[in-house]
Amino acid sequence: MDRPIAYDKLAREDRFIRMRARDIAALKVEQGLPPFPDLADRDAIRDRVHGILVGELQAMEGAGRTVYDFPDAPWEFTLDMARQVWDESRHVETYLGLLEHLGGYVGEFPESTILWRCACAEDAAARVAGVNRGLEGLACDVFNQLVHIARKIGDPIIERSVDYVLADEITHVRMGSRWLNELTRGDPERRRRAIEFQETIDERFNLNGTRLDGAHEAVPISIAHEARKLAGFTDEEIARLVKSTQRSQVY
Ligand SMILES: [Fe+2]
Ligand SMILES: [Fe+2]
Repeated sequence: MDRPIAYDKLAREDRFIRMRARDIAALKVEQGLPPFPDLADRDAIRDRVHGILVGELQAMEGAGRTVYDFPDAPWEFTLDMARQVWDESRHVETYLGLLEHLGGYVGEFPESTILWRCACAEDAAARVAGVNRGLEGLACDVFNQLVHIARKIGDPIIERSVDYVLADEITHVRMGSRWLNELTRGDPERRRRAIEFQETIDERFNLNGTRLDGAHEAVPISIAHEARKLAGFTDEEIARLVKSTQRSQVY
């Protein structure tokens, strides 16, 4: 098997439609829609849930690749990544159920492979920093907001299901912090590169001003301060993320 696997080689049934994220955004803007689905109504929530579903699928594949790609990593690292594959596969099932609950179906919206392409760092420390702390930190933001919105619109099925998934993502971020520390112990240069990689992921997933520090109803993706603290992010790291979202808005 080649490593990292090319993004267009991920195995999919025919019902999945794959497109570049930037092409999806351009088409949406052409149709008068926001480039990234907000959570303003059930149609937008369905679009978002479909996006999360394919993200979970890629998260499962990414964790599986990490099990495979680093045979010399500590056994407990491999075990944590294998556990994550299992968690992500349950998340896929949960979001398949939620998509059905919302009257949607697989392939109703395109799949972008942007998460997968960010999950292919060559160094294990960079991978856990970028995926487990960057991308799963983003998952904490998105899921925390979705729980809040579901509660507000009175949909306990979405509210509780997503809350269960959020609990897992918090543990995935914690795993990332643990392995970032352990893999880079005594190697500050490797640690610096891994954190830099995470910051490029954070920056990219601010999505040109989509992720912002604001009220859940007011911004497309809100930063989940409390969930991030539970996941082990320091106040300083959260403040740095908030600052980076203010920078991205300038573009
Ligand atoms: Fe997940
Ligand atoms: Fe996860």
